[in-house]
Amino acid sequence: MDGKDSLTLEGVQRCLQTRALHLQVFESVSSTNTLLRSMAEQGAPEGTCLIAGEQTAGRGRQGRSFYSPSGGGVYMSVLLRPTMSAAMATDITAAAAVAAAQTVELLTGESAGIKWVNDVVFHGKKVCGILTEGAIDPSAQRLRWAVMGIGINVNAPEGGFPPEIREVAGAIFEKSAIPEGRCRIAAGVLDRFWHFYQTLGSEECWREYEARSLVLGRRIRVLSPGVDPKEAIAKGIERDYSLRVEYSDGTLGLLHSGEVSIRPE
Ligand code: BTN
Repeated sequence: MDGKDSLTLEGVQRCLQTRALHLQVFESVSSTNTLLRSMAEQGAPEGTCLIAGEQTAGRGRQGRSFYSPSGGGVYMSVLLRPTMSAAMATDITAAAAVAAAQTVELLTGESAGIKWVNDVVFHGKKVCGILTEGAIDPSAQRLRWAVMGIGINVNAPEGGFPPEIREVAGAIFEKSAIPEGRCRIAAGVLDRFWHFYQTLGSEECWREYEARSLVLGRRIRVLSPGVDPKEAIAKGIERDYSLRVEYSDGTLGLLHSGEVSIRPE
C-alpha cells in the first residue's frame, strides 16, 4: 500500500452525509464490538460509532476470530437502541450487508453479492463480515441495545491474506488503493446503513438484499455445528431474511440462522 489511504476522523466526516452518528476513530483497538458493548452498558447514546484501522482481537461469528490487520481494512461498530422486537436483529445485519454491497458497487462500478446470511462477496471472495450483538430486555422481548459490527477488507494486506483464509478472503482493491479509499468506504457504508436503519424491515432493503443473493436457486450445503452438513437447494428468502430450502430428500426447511456453503455447479 502506498500510504495515501489513511483513516482519520476528519476524512470519514468529510465523506459522511448523516449527522446522526457520533464517530470515534482509532488506529488500533482490541475489538470495536467488545469496546462498544461495554459503552452500551454504560449508557452511550444511539449512533455512537467506533472505527478502527486495526483490531488485535477482532471477533467473527460463531466464536471465530476476524482477521483485522492494520492498513488494509476498516473495522466499525455502531450502537443502536432500537424500539422494535428482538426478532428484528437480522434486519439490522441485512441492512449492513446491503449498505456494504451498494458502497462497493458505487466505488468500483462492479457488482457485489451477498452470501446468506451476511457475507459480502466481490470477485468471488468475501470482502466483508458482519457481527450483530445485542442485549435483550426479557420482559419486553425487545433489544435494550444492539451493536452492529462490520469489518471490510478494503486494500489487500501486504504479503496477502494468511494461508488459512487465502482461498475465501479478498479485498475490494486487490491491486492498488484509491485515495481516501477507507474513509470513503466507511462513510458510504455508514450513510447507507443509517438510511436502512431508519426504515428497518423495509421492502426496499429486502429487495436490494434479494437482488444480490448469491445462493438463490443454487445447490448449497447447510452447515450446523455438531451436525453433518446437509445438501439442499436455496429456494427463497423470506421477508425476515430466513432462507427457504429444499433438502435433497425433498423435504422443505426454513433456516433462521447458521451458515451455508455454495456447491460448485
Ligand atoms: C464474520 O464474518 O464472522 C463477522 C465478522 C465481523 C467483524 C467485525 S469488525 C468490527 C467488529 N468488531 C469485531 O470484533 N467484529 C466486528
